[in-house]
Amino acid sequence: MITKKVLRLCLLLAAFFLVFLGASKVQAKDYEIDYTVLKEGSQDASIANGYFDKPITIYQEDGQWYLTFKVNHENWISKVTFDGQEAVKHTSLENETGQWTFKLQSIEEKMDATVKVDIEEEVEGEALSYHHTYPIDFELDISKSQLTELKSALSQAKMYALYRILIPVVLAALALVIGIYVTVRRKKKSSEKLL
Ligand code: HEM
Repeated sequence: MITKKVLRLCLLLAAFFLVFLGASKVQAKDYEIDYTVLKEGSQDASIANGYFDKPITIYQEDGQWYLTFKVNHENWISKVTFDGQEAVKHTSLENETGQWTFKLQSIEEKMDATVKVDIEEEVEGEALSYHHTYPIDFELDISKSQLTELKSALSQAKMYALYRILIPVVLAALALVIGIYVTVRRKKKSSEKLL
């Protein structure tokens, strides 16, 4: 019977999906990476370097990779973007420390970022009104093997994310097709009986 075969296929796909979900929940290791903030497009350390605490932490949560770092003078740094993205989380901690977290979409030795600085206070006895947004570069002190490892982990995570959408859609479509097939067959049989 076709229906039984399709049902078996559905069950197999559902089992695969569950195993796949379980596998994607396996905790990957965290990476702690030292870095230097450079003036955009140069190899010179930026003034901003002293305001960014080291290291960066890269970690995985629910299949998504994140990058997080802390800044000192939290009250002066009103916005940070990383690799063209807004932060997914920004927390103010004790001692004027701020923590910024971004989804990690790609990884290279050099990553672009921007920092928005807003100072409206007395600094060293002088009133300071300083409002600037600067482009900066993060140069990661990352080994070739770590880079390769992370790149493949990122592409694997993207694949998992795609499958997580595709598999339920395929299962739902199959269930719909079976439903229609069974209903049509039943109707056909009952009309055959009537004749
Ligand atoms: C008391 C506070 C600050 C003062 C007086 C100050 C002063 C200055 C001055 C005079 C320059 C121009 C120097 C040059 O072009 O070489 C500059 C550039 C710059 N500042 Fe500030 N700044 C302050 C805070 C900050 C903070 C909190 C950040 C970021 C976290 C920051 C990031 C930058 C960046 C990125 C540049 C562009 C040149 C570079 O990348 O080194 N500044 N700042």
